[in-house]
Amino acid sequence: MTQTWSPDSWKRKEVRQLPSYPDASALDEVLSRLRSRPPLVFAGEARRLKRQLASVANGEAFLLQGGDCAESFKEFSTDNVRDTFRVLLQMAVVMTFAAAKPVVKVGRIAGQFAKPRSSDVEVQDGVELPSYRGDSINDMAFTPEARVPDPERLIKAYDQAAATLNLLRALASGGYADLHNVHQWTLDFLAGSPAGARYQQYADRISEALAFMRACGVTSDAAPSLEGVDFFTSHEALHLPFEEALTRIDSTTGRAYATSAHLLWIGDRTRQPDGAHVEFMRGLENPIGLKCGPSLDPDELVRLIDILNPGNEAGRLVLYARMGADKVGQGLPPLVRAVKRAGKRVVWSCDPMHGNTTKTASGYKTRVFDSVLKELKQFIEVLRAEGVEPGGVHFEMTGQDVTECVGGAGHLSEADLSSRYHTHCDPRLNADQALEMAFQIAEALKPANGLKRAAE
Ligand code: TRP
Ligand code: MN
Repeated sequence: MTQTWSPDSWKRKEVRQLPSYPDASALDEVLSRLRSRPPLVFAGEARRLKRQLASVANGEAFLLQGGDCAESFKEFSTDNVRDTFRVLLQMAVVMTFAAAKPVVKVGRIAGQFAKPRSSDVEVQDGVELPSYRGDSINDMAFTPEARVPDPERLIKAYDQAAATLNLLRALASGGYADLHNVHQWTLDFLAGSPAGARYQQYADRISEALAFMRACGVTSDAAPSLEGVDFFTSHEALHLPFEEALTRIDSTTGRAYATSAHLLWIGDRTRQPDGAHVEFMRGLENPIGLKCGPSLDPDELVRLIDILNPGNEAGRLVLYARMGADKVGQGLPPLVRAVKRAGKRVVWSCDPMHGNTTKTASGYKTRVFDSVLKELKQFIEVLRAEGVEPGGVHFEMTGQDVTECVGGAGHLSEADLSSRYHTHCDPRLNADQALEMAFQIAEALKPANGLKRAAE
């Protein structure tokens, strides 16, 4: 019944959110250049991530995923990448320590350039222009020239992703991420904050544990895993021509892998079972994700899982609940129940960002720290009540000291937003707020909390 898949079989389906390029031959020329570029990631790495996600699906590990809503060409710098990486390390170390479970580390980075939009056009002061769709497509400036989709931007996105990945690989395995550096990852501006102080306490305890282990003979030589981390990349697979151009057949297995990132996900706006994005993704061997918003019907979810993971392979599929703090309590249980009843092996992760976006009176898109936290806590409660282990979290966050989300221990107010509001799309948690989230998750995941609950 299902037609055969090929990297371009998505073209037979209805495709949403694709930019219309004025010059089709210029796009084709760029895509053929991309086809001859080296893969950014390797099939063996994607398989490694899949194995780690399989242990998340089995309740033995936890998934931490985070990064910019949209990466930008202008904001790209060594410091920016390093700072995001280091906050993720800090969060991972806190969560690993408290939950006593391995944390699978995935950046929303090195390729997160294309954005779905609710409208094809944007109107400002009576002037209508095509919407900004991410730096790999057009420019954010509100002028007619800037908003024309330019295929050369895909090459620039590829190049930036390659440079970012190169840096991330060095940071992950070149010594920087060695657990013995746990004290050095503190950012300057965190040193004086409540989250910073709390982090120091964790770092002290970890150093102490490491010193004890060293005395017992467990050195980095004996346990090389202390010296670095596995760090994976991910983004939304929105721009199908780009993703198709970077799809390669793995020589060892003969299977198709997306090589633009280890993990790709399908957005809430492009998850139609008979649509082009689902068609493209079903044929990849990578681990993949699916965003699940409040409009998703439980039967449709099960149908999507059948299409995307017909072999019911653990580690293949991550479901991101992105309901909103006011909807998760009602909306999530039917989905979790349906998936469980159908016997589907999935990772349930919480995206507490996208259902909690609001606008301030002065027009800033923002998110309230407490709403994000509330959704996260309810997510954990709902899953546990259904007898399913919460698998992970997905944050829009940055290592910079930005002012985009309000609240948190730093008590950012709406009036503070204008001082360092830098995002190219949605508001991100800053380093302080992200670390605070990690403490909250760590608390909720502590084995003792699970035991207490079981005994109640
Ligand atoms: N490799 C292990 C892990 O990834 C231990 C580790 C080394 C680690 N450096 C780390 C854990 C930094 C968290 C953060 O879990
Ligand atoms: Mn976003």
